[in-house]
Amino acid sequence: MTEEAISQDQFEHLFNAAPSFAVRSPGRINLIGEHIDYCGGLVMPMAIAHSTQGWYRFNGTSQVRIYTTRFETLTTFNPHDVMQPPKGTWEDYVQGILNLGAHRQAGCGFDLWVTSDLHAGGLSSSASFLGLLALVNHHALTGERIELSDVSQRLTLALLCQQVENQFVGVPSGIMDPASVLLGGLMTLDCRTLKFQRLQAIPETHRLVIMDTGVPRTLAASGYAQRVAEVGAIQTLIADNDSTNKTTRYSELATLPDDRVTQALSLLESDPLKIRARHIFSEQARVLQSALALENNDMGALGRLMNESHHSLSVDYDVSCPELDLITQLSRDSGLGLGARMTGAGFGGCAISLVPVEHLEAHEAWVTNAYLQQTGIEPVLLASEVAAGADIIAL
Ligand code: GLA
Repeated sequence: MTEEAISQDQFEHLFNAAPSFAVRSPGRINLIGEHIDYCGGLVMPMAIAHSTQGWYRFNGTSQVRIYTTRFETLTTFNPHDVMQPPKGTWEDYVQGILNLGAHRQAGCGFDLWVTSDLHAGGLSSSASFLGLLALVNHHALTGERIELSDVSQRLTLALLCQQVENQFVGVPSGIMDPASVLLGGLMTLDCRTLKFQRLQAIPETHRLVIMDTGVPRTLAASGYAQRVAEVGAIQTLIADNDSTNKTTRYSELATLPDDRVTQALSLLESDPLKIRARHIFSEQARVLQSALALENNDMGALGRLMNESHHSLSVDYDVSCPELDLITQLSRDSGLGLGARMTGAGFGGCAISLVPVEHLEAHEAWVTNAYLQQTGIEPVLLASEVAAGADIIAL
């Protein structure tokens, strides 16, 4: 039996009926543009083949029943229940979608069986799960399966997913992850305007390799919120000192025009937050240069920009960790990859490396052995595949 058939079989066993639809929602890596989505920056995420997968059917009741293989639990949600305070579990994601997604009509319940191969940290398993839930809930409420080409509805759902993370789960995350999961592919996304541009994939000659450090992202929640707060403090400081034009308020740091960047950095001269601002400005510039490098098929330049991005995230923004620094350094030391950087929020989880296809095996062996020797942890290296946005298929 295929894995898919096993899943459907288990669905029938659990819910005493066959599923009517299958749904798949990708994870994402971020090629470059890290920690700048929550201050209006331009980012370059890519949806990947690793995904959250689900099978579901409408159950004709108002209840939503969800089984997750990860926690091996079947949980029933009654949308009419008064909102409970967040529990700090996966159930908060469902409660958030059901509440903000206006799951109020009677008879819009569904049975959903969910599994995932997004186990490594930093590949956005939470946005992937949220994107899946948002699509299924929308389908249950309206009878409509949102087309992949319906960009405007997909962006609306992405904003809903972000709101759930911010308000129900309590993470002040940006728009990058849900937008990537719901729109799919490789793109530049302007996080202030939500305008995006699809990019040609990495050329066939090269692959982006996901390198899982095997280190959990224990500080991610607190460290992430701290960075968002620091950026907020910088923005306030700059706005309060804007004597040249009182009406111009740059509410989002990454959108500060070039001529004001130097001014802002001198204003922050003796402030410890200066290095954080320096990361935001330099990373924003690197995204633009990376888009150009991709357009010119200049993989050497792209690799160098990835290395610079990691250095800035590690030294100025302080969101790396010894293992992320090590695995990216090993990838560079191997002489087989063109550049490497952490991807996602950091503090553990995954890095990515740009590797010519002819070096894939040697790079994997070299990095795996060296990392294992130095840390005692066996890392997992996988060449990523670009994927489409989250989607539903009728069975
Ligand atoms: C997490 C957040 C994103 C983004 C990245 C860092 O993945 O969910 O919004 O801020 O970290 O770039």
